[in-house]
This record gives sequence, structure tokens and C-alpha cells, in this order.
Amino acid sequence: MKDKVCIITGASGGIGSAIAEALFDAGFRLVLMGRDEKKLQKVANGRDCLILPGSLNSDGYINFAVEQTVKTFGGIDILINNAGVAQSKPFEEISPDEYDEIMHINARAPFFLCQKALPHLQKSSCGTIINIASVVAHKGYALQSAYAASKHALLGFSKSLAKEYAEKGVRVHVISPGAVFTDMVKISRPDLTGEGMLMPSDIAETVMYLIKMRNTASVADEIELHRETKEPFM
Ligand SMILES: NC(=O)c1ccc[n+]([C@@H]2O[C@H](COP(=O)([O-])OP(=O)(O)OC[C@H]3O[C@@H](n4cnc5c(N)ncnc54)[C@H](OP(=O)(O)O)[C@@H]3O)[C@@H](O)[C@H]2O)c1
Repeated sequence: MKDKVCIITGASGGIGSAIAEALFDAGFRLVLMGRDEKKLQKVANGRDCLILPGSLNSDGYINFAVEQTVKTFGGIDILINNAGVAQSKPFEEISPDEYDEIMHINARAPFFLCQKALPHLQKSSCGTIINIASVVAHKGYALQSAYAASKHALLGFSKSLAKEYAEKGVRVHVISPGAVFTDMVKISRPDLTGEGMLMPSDIAETVMYLIKMRNTASVADEIELHRETKEPFM
């Protein structure tokens, strides 16, 4: 898989930067997307890659990212929709704007990034989409109704996409982690201290596993990861 071209959204964040680190080490050519250019530069750490700062609120940015990737590297092999926003708020206090924002970043942006990238992914010998959902794509937690709606939507369209594109040679996977120790969880769940939690590198290892399996006939549609202290198969 060396030299394959991979787009990572949210590459400036906790999980995204860990995924980028693992893929840099494995010799991938990376496109780092995120809003904060300084943080993206820090992740790149002088390594050769394409840095595309911008907000996923903009359809123009999504189109631009796909065009620039193809212009720079000649194609796209892997798309990792990792960027996301969380929210912890009572149901009755969530405004229409807040609902739209979370649905836009967590569901709409990955939907249209997949749509724009798929013509190029189909030309690849290993076209792969990995969408980072959450345990909340299956469950509902109090104070997370908008976040749960957005992650259910992400999982839902991923299932359809996997079926629609399997015969066209593109694999679509979902990784659904429990609480991972990043800024997101530090803000949304300040009660969690990091003790016994998933680490961003655990998600990066899971991404690497899915990519390695691309060379086999085995497909893991979704991988759910939970804390050891949580009940299995819940
Ligand atoms: N942490 C957890 O417990 C956990 C558990 C399950 C699933 N997840 C999922 O894992 C993914 C990564 O989360 P994380 O924990 O690494 O969070 P994080 O550290 O807060 O990173 C979030 C990333 O999303 C990017 N982002 C947010 N809004 C954006 C926008 N409007 N336009 C472009 N990029 C935007 C951020 O970019 P900037 O920093 O440049 O603004 C950042 O790179 C998310 O989809 C999250 O839902 C997280």
C-alpha cells in the first residue's frame, strides 16, 4: 500500500492526527484536512503531504479538496471521514442552528465527500472509505440526541454505500469507538480522566488493520471498540 493516496478529514484532531502518524509511517501520500492550518502543519512535521485547511461547512471546500488531491497525486485510493463535532446538551435546549451544524459536519459533509471522491476511488486498485462513527451510532445517550442522530445517519448511509459500491470494487467500512481520550471527550465528558479509556492510537491501529485486510478477501464492515470496563456486546 506504500505510496497510496489517502485523504483524512479532521487530521488536526486527536484521532485524525494519530491516523495520519500511522499512515505517514507506512509510506502513504497524505492529504490532511482540518480548519486549523497551524495544527495541520504540526501534524505534518515537515513531511511531504498536501495540507488543505478549510471548513467542512462549505461544499466548495469539499469539491476543492477532491480536485486538489487528484491534481497533486493523480487519484485517490483511501478516504477517511474522521472530522466530527460533539455536543452535550438537554434535548429541549438544542437550537435549529446547533442541530444543523452537528448534522452538517458529522453526516452531510462525509456524505458529499464520499460522493465527490467515489469516481476516483473506483479507479483505484484498492478504493476504500473508512467512516469514523461512534458507539452512539447504535445507542442513545442522554444529552447527546443531536450527536446520536448524526452518527446514526453516518452509519446508515455507510451501509447503503457499502452495498452500492461493493461490486464496483470500493470497500466501505465504519469504525465505531467508545470514549477516546481526545479534546472532544475532554470537553463533552469532563468526568472522564483518561483512565481505562481508548487512545487515539487504538483507532489508528484499527484503520491500519482495515487497510492491511484490503489485500485479502475478508471484509470487516464495521468494527466497534469499547472500553474494557464496559459490558461486551452491548
Ligand atoms: N473522542 C471520542 O470519544 C470519540 C468517540 C467516538 C467517535 N469519535 C469520533 O471520532 C472523530 C474524531 O474525533 P476526535 O476525538 O479526534 O475529536 P477532536 O480532537 O475534537 O478532533 C475533531 C476534528 O474535526 C475537525 N473539525 C471539526 N469541525 C470541523 C469543520 N467545521 N470543518 C473541518 N473540520 C472540522 C477538527 O478540526 P480543527 O481542529 O482544525 O478545527 C478536528 O481535526 C469524530 O468524528 C468523533 O465524532 C470520537
